[in-house]
Amino acid sequence: MSRQPFIAGNWKLNLGPEDASKVSAELVQALAGHRDVTVAIFPTALSIPSVVRAVAGSEIGVGMQEIESVASGAFTGGNSAVMARAAGCTYALVGHSERRQLWGETDARCGDKVAFALASGLLPILCVGETLAERRAGRVEEVVTRQLEAGLSAIAPDQVAAVTLAYEPVWAIGTGETASPDQAQAVHATLRAWLRAGHGDVADDIRIQYGGSVKPGNAKELLACPDIDGALVGGASLRAESFAGIVAAATA
Ligand code: PGA
Repeated sequence: MSRQPFIAGNWKLNLGPEDASKVSAELVQALAGHRDVTVAIFPTALSIPSVVRAVAGSEIGVGMQEIESVASGAFTGGNSAVMARAAGCTYALVGHSERRQLWGETDARCGDKVAFALASGLLPILCVGETLAERRAGRVEEVVTRQLEAGLSAIAPDQVAAVTLAYEPVWAIGTGETASPDQAQAVHATLRAWLRAGHGDVADDIRIQYGGSVKPGNAKELLACPDIDGALVGGASLRAESFAGIVAAATA
Protein backbone atom coordinates (compact mmCIF):
# COMPACT_ATOMS: atom_id res chain seq x y z
CA MET A 1 0.00 0.00 0.00
CA SER A 2 1.52 3.28 -1.03
CA ARG A 3 -0.67 6.27 -1.59
CA GLN A 4 1.10 9.29 -2.99
CA PRO A 5 0.08 12.39 -0.99
CA PHE A 6 -2.31 14.68 -2.82
CA ILE A 7 -2.34 18.37 -1.91
CA ALA A 8 -5.07 20.45 -3.55
CA GLY A 9 -5.62 24.20 -3.32
CA ASN A 10 -9.22 25.39 -3.45
CA TRP A 11 -9.04 29.07 -4.33
CA LYS A 12 -12.81 29.51 -4.04
CA LEU A 13 -13.98 32.89 -5.38
CA ASN A 14 -10.55 34.52 -5.18
CA LEU A 15 -7.72 35.43 -7.57
CA GLY A 16 -8.94 36.74 -10.92
CA PRO A 17 -7.04 35.87 -14.12
CA GLU A 18 -4.08 38.16 -13.53
CA ASP A 19 -3.49 37.36 -9.85
CA ALA A 20 -4.15 33.66 -10.48
CA SER A 21 -1.53 33.62 -13.20
CA LYS A 22 0.99 35.33 -10.89
CA VAL A 23 0.42 32.94 -7.96
CA SER A 24 0.51 29.95 -10.32
CA ALA A 25 3.86 31.04 -11.74
CA GLU A 26 5.22 31.46 -8.20
CA LEU A 27 3.97 27.99 -7.33
CA VAL A 28 5.64 26.43 -10.35
CA GLN A 29 8.93 27.88 -9.11
CA ALA A 30 8.37 27.00 -5.47
CA LEU A 31 7.38 23.39 -6.24
CA ALA A 32 10.03 22.67 -8.86
CA GLY A 33 11.76 20.17 -6.56
CA HIS A 34 8.73 18.21 -5.33
CA ARG A 35 8.27 15.00 -7.27
CA ASP A 36 6.46 12.65 -4.91
CA VAL A 37 3.34 14.66 -4.20
CA THR A 38 0.31 15.12 -6.43
CA VAL A 39 -0.52 18.84 -6.53
CA ALA A 40 -3.56 20.54 -8.04
CA ILE A 41 -5.12 23.96 -7.86
CA PHE A 42 -8.78 24.85 -8.28
CA PRO A 43 -9.12 28.44 -9.50
CA THR A 44 -12.39 30.22 -10.08
CA ALA A 45 -13.65 29.21 -13.54
CA LEU A 46 -12.77 32.57 -15.12
CA SER A 47 -9.11 32.11 -14.15
CA ILE A 48 -8.74 28.58 -15.47
CA PRO A 49 -7.27 29.52 -18.89
CA SER A 50 -4.61 31.77 -17.34
CA VAL A 51 -3.72 29.13 -14.73
CA VAL A 52 -3.52 26.36 -17.33
CA ARG A 53 -1.08 28.53 -19.29
CA ALA A 54 0.96 29.41 -16.20
CA VAL A 55 1.43 25.80 -15.02
CA ALA A 56 2.00 24.30 -18.50
CA GLY A 57 4.99 21.97 -18.46
CA SER A 58 4.92 21.60 -14.65
CA GLU A 59 3.48 18.76 -12.55
CA ILE A 60 0.71 20.99 -11.18
CA GLY A 61 -2.79 19.92 -12.21
CA VAL A 62 -5.78 22.20 -12.55
CA GLY A 63 -9.36 21.51 -11.55
CA MET A 64 -12.88 22.94 -11.58
CA GLN A 65 -14.47 23.89 -8.28
CA GLU A 66 -17.92 22.91 -9.49
CA ILE A 67 -19.46 21.21 -12.52
CA GLU A 68 -22.93 20.46 -13.81
CA SER A 69 -23.89 16.88 -14.57
CA VAL A 70 -24.56 17.74 -18.21
CA ALA A 71 -22.18 18.60 -21.05
CA SER A 72 -24.04 21.61 -22.41
CA GLY A 73 -27.47 23.14 -22.79
CA ALA A 74 -29.85 25.59 -21.14
CA PHE A 75 -28.12 25.83 -17.74
CA THR A 76 -27.49 29.54 -17.20
CA GLY A 77 -24.41 30.10 -15.06
CA GLY A 78 -23.36 26.46 -15.16
CA ASN A 79 -19.93 24.99 -15.83
CA SER A 80 -19.44 21.97 -18.05
CA ALA A 81 -17.08 19.14 -17.14
CA VAL A 82 -16.59 18.42 -20.84
CA MET A 83 -15.59 22.03 -21.49
CA ALA A 84 -13.37 22.04 -18.40
CA ARG A 85 -11.53 19.03 -19.77
CA ALA A 86 -11.14 20.78 -23.13
CA ALA A 87 -9.80 23.85 -21.30
CA GLY A 88 -7.05 21.80 -19.68
CA CYS A 89 -8.57 20.67 -16.37
CA THR A 90 -7.80 17.26 -14.88
CA TYR A 91 -9.92 17.35 -11.70
CA ALA A 92 -13.30 18.47 -10.38
CA LEU A 93 -14.44 19.12 -6.82
CA VAL A 94 -17.84 17.64 -6.03
CA GLY A 95 -19.99 18.36 -3.00
CA HIS A 96 -17.89 21.00 -1.28
CA SER A 97 -19.75 22.04 1.88
CA GLU A 98 -20.17 25.59 0.58
CA ARG A 99 -22.00 24.19 -2.45
CA ARG A 100 -24.08 21.94 -0.21
CA GLN A 101 -24.94 24.76 2.21
CA LEU A 102 -25.20 27.84 -0.02
CA TRP A 103 -26.52 26.22 -3.21
CA GLY A 104 -28.50 23.36 -1.70
CA GLU A 105 -26.41 20.71 -3.41
CA THR A 106 -27.97 17.33 -2.54
CA ASP A 107 -26.30 13.97 -1.96
CA ALA A 108 -28.03 12.62 -5.08
CA ARG A 109 -26.74 15.44 -7.28
CA CYS A 110 -23.24 14.86 -5.94
CA GLY A 111 -23.53 11.24 -7.07
CA ASP A 112 -24.57 12.35 -10.56
CA LYS A 113 -21.68 14.83 -10.71
CA VAL A 114 -19.08 12.24 -9.67
CA ALA A 115 -20.36 9.98 -12.46
CA PHE A 116 -20.43 12.78 -14.99
CA ALA A 117 -16.96 14.02 -14.07
CA LEU A 118 -15.54 10.54 -14.70
CA ALA A 119 -17.50 10.14 -17.93
CA SER A 120 -16.03 13.48 -19.06
CA GLY A 121 -12.45 12.48 -18.28
CA LEU A 122 -12.11 14.48 -15.05
CA LEU A 123 -10.99 12.95 -11.76
CA PRO A 124 -13.44 13.89 -9.01
CA ILE A 125 -12.63 14.87 -5.44
CA LEU A 126 -15.76 14.08 -3.46
CA CYS A 127 -16.07 16.23 -0.32
CA VAL A 128 -17.85 14.99 2.77
CA GLY A 129 -18.09 16.39 6.28
CA GLU A 130 -20.38 17.07 9.20
CA THR A 131 -21.57 20.35 10.69
CA LEU A 132 -20.86 21.27 14.29
CA ALA A 133 -24.46 20.45 15.25
CA GLU A 134 -24.13 17.01 13.66
CA ARG A 135 -20.85 16.40 15.50
CA ARG A 136 -22.39 17.44 18.82
CA ALA A 137 -25.31 15.13 18.16
CA GLY A 138 -22.91 12.18 17.68
CA ARG A 139 -23.86 11.83 14.02
CA VAL A 140 -20.43 12.15 12.33
CA GLU A 141 -20.24 8.58 11.07
CA GLU A 142 -23.83 8.52 9.88
CA VAL A 143 -23.44 11.80 7.96
CA VAL A 144 -20.10 11.13 6.26
CA THR A 145 -20.94 7.57 5.25
CA ARG A 146 -24.32 8.72 3.88
CA GLN A 147 -22.56 11.39 1.79
CA LEU A 148 -19.93 8.89 0.68
CA GLU A 149 -22.46 6.22 -0.30
CA ALA A 150 -24.53 8.72 -2.31
CA GLY A 151 -21.45 10.21 -3.90
CA LEU A 152 -20.35 6.83 -5.25
CA SER A 153 -23.83 5.52 -6.01
CA ALA A 154 -23.93 6.33 -9.74
CA ILE A 155 -20.58 4.82 -10.76
CA ALA A 156 -19.49 1.29 -11.52
CA PRO A 157 -17.39 -0.59 -8.93
CA ASP A 158 -14.32 -0.42 -11.18
CA GLN A 159 -14.54 3.39 -11.26
CA VAL A 160 -14.31 3.87 -7.50
CA ALA A 161 -10.51 3.79 -7.52
CA ALA A 162 -10.47 6.96 -9.65
CA VAL A 163 -12.19 9.00 -6.95
CA THR A 164 -10.36 11.01 -4.28
CA LEU A 165 -12.20 11.79 -1.06
CA ALA A 166 -11.88 14.90 1.05
CA TYR A 167 -13.06 14.88 4.65
CA GLU A 168 -13.83 18.45 5.55
CA PRO A 169 -15.60 19.03 8.85
CA VAL A 170 -17.75 22.09 8.15
CA TRP A 171 -16.89 23.64 11.52
CA ALA A 172 -13.19 23.67 10.59
CA ILE A 173 -13.52 25.36 7.18
CA GLY A 174 -12.28 28.93 7.12
CA THR A 175 -12.61 29.17 10.89
CA GLY A 176 -9.00 28.71 11.91
CA GLU A 177 -10.21 25.74 13.97
CA THR A 178 -8.66 22.50 12.73
CA ALA A 179 -9.81 19.03 13.62
CA SER A 180 -7.14 17.49 15.84
CA PRO A 181 -5.10 14.78 14.13
CA ASP A 182 -6.94 12.21 16.29
CA GLN A 183 -10.37 13.55 15.35
CA ALA A 184 -9.49 13.64 11.66
CA GLN A 185 -7.81 10.23 11.66
CA ALA A 186 -10.86 8.65 13.33
CA VAL A 187 -13.16 9.86 10.54
CA HIS A 188 -10.67 8.93 7.80
CA ALA A 189 -10.46 5.42 9.26
CA THR A 190 -14.26 5.22 9.28
CA LEU A 191 -14.40 6.23 5.61
CA ARG A 192 -11.72 3.71 4.67
CA ALA A 193 -13.46 0.95 6.60
CA TRP A 194 -16.70 1.74 4.76
CA LEU A 195 -14.83 1.56 1.46
CA ARG A 196 -13.24 -1.74 2.42
CA ALA A 197 -16.57 -3.27 3.39
CA GLY A 198 -18.15 -2.35 0.06
CA HIS A 199 -15.25 -2.27 -2.35
CA GLY A 200 -12.51 -4.46 -0.91
CA ASP A 201 -8.85 -3.71 -1.47
CA VAL A 202 -9.57 -0.59 -3.51
CA ALA A 203 -9.85 1.01 -0.05
CA ASP A 204 -6.06 0.83 0.19
CA ASP A 205 -5.60 2.85 -2.99
CA ILE A 206 -8.10 5.66 -2.53
CA ARG A 207 -6.64 8.88 -1.23
CA ILE A 208 -8.53 10.67 1.52
CA GLN A 209 -7.60 14.32 1.97
CA TYR A 210 -8.29 16.29 5.10
CA GLY A 211 -9.58 19.84 4.71
CA GLY A 212 -10.36 22.61 7.18
CA SER A 213 -7.89 25.32 8.17
CA VAL A 214 -4.82 23.36 7.03
CA LYS A 215 -1.70 25.52 7.24
CA PRO A 216 2.05 24.93 6.97
CA GLY A 217 2.16 24.82 10.78
CA ASN A 218 -0.35 21.99 11.26
CA ALA A 219 0.00 20.05 8.00
CA LYS A 220 2.81 17.77 9.08
CA GLU A 221 0.98 16.44 12.13
CA LEU A 222 -2.21 15.82 10.15
CA LEU A 223 -0.41 14.20 7.23
CA ALA A 224 1.46 11.89 9.58
CA CYS A 225 -1.82 10.08 10.39
CA PRO A 226 -2.05 6.71 8.66
CA ASP A 227 -5.32 7.39 6.83
CA ILE A 228 -4.73 11.06 5.94
CA ASP A 229 -3.32 11.08 2.42
CA GLY A 230 -3.29 14.74 1.62
CA ALA A 231 -5.03 18.04 2.16
CA LEU A 232 -7.67 20.19 0.52
CA VAL A 233 -6.52 23.68 1.38
CA GLY A 234 -8.54 26.88 1.13
CA GLY A 235 -7.14 30.06 2.66
CA ALA A 236 -3.54 28.88 2.93
CA SER A 237 -3.47 27.97 -0.77
CA LEU A 238 -3.90 31.57 -1.92
CA ARG A 239 -0.23 32.40 -1.39
CA ALA A 240 2.44 30.34 -3.09
CA GLU A 241 4.69 30.39 -0.03
CA SER A 242 2.17 28.90 2.39
CA PHE A 243 0.81 26.39 -0.14
CA ALA A 244 4.35 25.27 -0.95
CA GLY A 245 4.94 24.90 2.79
CA ILE A 246 2.07 22.42 2.98
CA VAL A 247 3.38 20.50 -0.05
CA ALA A 248 6.77 20.38 1.66
CA ALA A 249 5.12 18.93 4.79
CA ALA A 250 3.65 16.18 2.60
CA THR A 251 7.05 15.39 1.11
CA ALA A 252 8.79 15.12 4.46
P1 PGA B 1 -9.85 26.42 4.56
O1 PGA B 1 -10.85 25.83 3.44
O2 PGA B 1 -8.52 25.77 4.36
O3 PGA B 1 -9.81 27.90 4.28
O4 PGA B 1 -10.45 26.10 5.89
C1 PGA B 1 -10.82 24.48 3.08
C2 PGA B 1 -11.87 24.20 2.04
O5 PGA B 1 -12.96 24.80 2.10
O6 PGA B 1 -11.66 23.38 1.13
